[in-house]
Amino acid sequence: MKPRIVVVGSSNTDMIIQLDRIPRPGETVLGGRFTTAAGGKGANQAVAAARAGGGVSFVARLGRDVFGDQALAGFRSAGICVDRIGRDPAAPSGVALIFVARDGENSIAVASGANGRLSPADVRKAAPAIRGAAVMLLQLETPLPAVAEAARLAAKAGVRVILNPAPARPLPDALLGRVSVLTPNETEAELLTGVKVNNPAAAARAAASLLGRGVKTVIVTLGARGALVATPDILQLVPGFKVKAVDTTAAGDIFNGALAVAMGEGRPLIEAARFANAAAALSVTRLGAQPSAPRRAEIEQLLAKSH
Ligand code: RIB
Repeated sequence: MKPRIVVVGSSNTDMIIQLDRIPRPGETVLGGRFTTAAGGKGANQAVAAARAGGGVSFVARLGRDVFGDQALAGFRSAGICVDRIGRDPAAPSGVALIFVARDGENSIAVASGANGRLSPADVRKAAPAIRGAAVMLLQLETPLPAVAEAARLAAKAGVRVILNPAPARPLPDALLGRVSVLTPNETEAELLTGVKVNNPAAAARAAASLLGRGVKTVIVTLGARGALVATPDILQLVPGFKVKAVDTTAAGDIFNGALAVAMGEGRPLIEAARFANAAAALSVTRLGAQPSAPRRAEIEQLLAKSH
């Protein structure tokens, strides 16, 4: 049976320009290639979890516009339950403008639109789906009160919560205390702890500080180097997979979606992190957020190949 994953979060349409390099303020860079793709950190996590083998329910807000229609159609075709997605009559669907440079690095600006109006009441309407889930996935592209309410309901129902603190912002200890697994990248770990994270040893110091604030497990994602897994009893670097990066957009989202599935299947933490590393590695070899989320068979193939 597929593990049930509930994702509460954002959905965007990504407008992507691939360029030799990202323009500096005031600069115009010619020669770009334009494409659109489905995105948004919450939606990316939901699609990644569905493709990795989860039975996914997504709680979100879209505008009543063509971008919202397209997003909904994409979720349906990924097999995601859309019963808890509201359509907002007063705000457009979220949009992200993304520059992707030749080396795969990106820069992103988001107009949140309807995502910014996801409320605790929206989340409460999804209480039955939350109670029935094995794992809840959260990020920070929707208002904090909705995120906090989701974590509260999950904790009350004994559902494990993975919080990807992206985009980074300071978080109250009350929320952190309800998080089973916190998955910052280096920048986010630094913002949350004040520790400059530029190597695994520094990541371990940041993780220790977050464990001290009530999080049960911290996984600091370190890009191509992999992920540092920290609990009160474990400190282990789970190495990444060597691939040629085309676009790193959404690699963190894909990591989290796959991690939720592996945890929902009851895999041990280190094995789950390895599964998530493989999914993220595959995603950076492709352009776009949701189009880059790998299917389960591809993840298993990469894992088997590197055994
Ligand atoms: O994490 C990548 C995502 O961030 C993109 O899909 C974009 O929509 C922004 O939300």
